[in-house]
Amino acid sequence: MRFEVLMADTAERFLCEPHQSVLDSMERLNRQDIPVGCRGGGCGVCKVQITHGEYLRRRMSRAHISAADEVAGIGLACCVIPLTNLTLSVVVGPNVPPPQLGAREHS
Ligand code: FES
Repeated sequence: MRFEVLMADTAERFLCEPHQSVLDSMERLNRQDIPVGCRGGGCGVCKVQITHGEYLRRRMSRAHISAADEVAGIGLACCVIPLTNLTLSVVVGPNVPPPQLGAREHS
């Protein structure tokens, strides 16, 4: 079953394939809603705040996601697997550039 991701800041939406992370699904669609880094939970570039929906988490670096962050719904998009439709927004940090809104690559 595929689940929809709603980007709260832009109202853009895309579908996540079953068992794929939010970041994997976004990249497969050639979208750039969320910044991409290591794709493995280690760099913190893809940090998002999830405000609605349920999800599984793969292992995330504690250097980037604290226990308090987890409770607050903050996670790494490369480690978040949707279990329902999700609403989220990008968390922009000091070393994280904001996403290029509206910019997409087409192949
Ligand atoms: S892309 Fe590096 S933690 Fe997600």
